[in-house]
Amino acid sequence: MYKIAVLPGDGIGPEIVPEAVKVLEVVARRAGIEFKFTEALVGGAAIDACGRALPPETLELCRQSDAVLLGAVGGPKWDALPPEERPETAALLPLRKELGLYANLRPAYLFEPLADASPLKREIVSGTDLIIIRELTGGLYFGPKKREKTEDGEVAYDTMFYTRAEIERIVRLAFQIARSRRRHLTSVDKANVLTSSRLWRDTVESLKGEFPDVTVEHMYVDNCAMQLVRRPTQFDVIVTENTFGDILSDQASVLTGSIGMLPSASIGGSTALYEPVHGSAPDIAGQQKANPLATILSAAMMLKYSFKMHREAAAVEDAVGRVLAKGYRTADIYVPGTKLVGTAEMGTLVRRE
Ligand code: NAI
Ligand code: MG
Repeated sequence: MYKIAVLPGDGIGPEIVPEAVKVLEVVARRAGIEFKFTEALVGGAAIDACGRALPPETLELCRQSDAVLLGAVGGPKWDALPPEERPETAALLPLRKELGLYANLRPAYLFEPLADASPLKREIVSGTDLIIIRELTGGLYFGPKKREKTEDGEVAYDTMFYTRAEIERIVRLAFQIARSRRRHLTSVDKANVLTSSRLWRDTVESLKGEFPDVTVEHMYVDNCAMQLVRRPTQFDVIVTENTFGDILSDQASVLTGSIGMLPSASIGGSTALYEPVHGSAPDIAGQQKANPLATILSAAMMLKYSFKMHREAAAVEDAVGRVLAKGYRTADIYVPGTKLVGTAEMGTLVRRE
């Protein structure tokens, strides 16, 4: 029996998360195992109910669960709050930190029926199947930072700070994931300019002997940004620093047609967190228009990374592929000639496959 904490959150969260939960229920039934789902409040919904974006009971439930499935948090209702009290900062950052989730995995996989949904040409995006592994608890976002007034005027700085140990654990994980895929690792840095990037590159070099079956390539981040839209099929696994990964993964999302298709996993601690890449989409919330596939594919990642149920994870991904091949589309991926369906209907179609 696995314990799964379910945190729908705000906006479209309560519409998309149940669709993924129901997919997991079907998986459990077919595999003859049991998932125990426990729902909890997070984000704006939690602020409204008890004044805190990440209530202690929610954090405790997550700690005691084997995995967490999260929808999204935030929305215009809470935008007026000071930045440190807003759902995004007050819920997501502490949750990742408390669970020790140092690795953010963002696959960009193009389902071929969606090759025309990307703003990039079909010839370019066709065959895209890469994963970006972003370091999540160090680097520029967490290094020493300050803003102050001096006699020369106001100054501010952020620091790209890493220890060798922090780089080693994320790079090692990336090598292991590369092993389970096409065995090609691209380490992205800015070693021609940044000292922390030189430590990053040296660390990759010092580890590659342990993974002789994986080919390793170093790439500067500016070149990587260009290569991602020029020839995305050259990539298998990309591993990189926190900020670089944040930017590159948003860019890579354009390859797959819609942000409503993109799953993510944050791993590294004893409990991992799975969530769609998109936010709470207040513009379409409550209208059954949201695409639940990013959340359903996040649940597939949970099966793979938390429960080692690789066959079941592949079955969910295949089911999504077949529904798309049959021409069913939510509004975000709709093109004339396909069949428009709502959130719950899309979930039902996947479960029927
Ligand atoms: P967003 O991702 O919520 O929406 C961007 C656009 O994509 C909107 O037009 C939306 O309708 C569309 N979209 C997003 N998910 C979709 C889905 N599943 N199906 C169909 N269309 C979808 O980003 P936005 O508008 O910048 O932020 C809205 C709120 O969400 C803000 O409060 C923001 O802070 C929060 N947010 C939360 C995140 C999280 O919980 N991890 C991540 C990003 C934003
Ligand atoms: Mg981002």
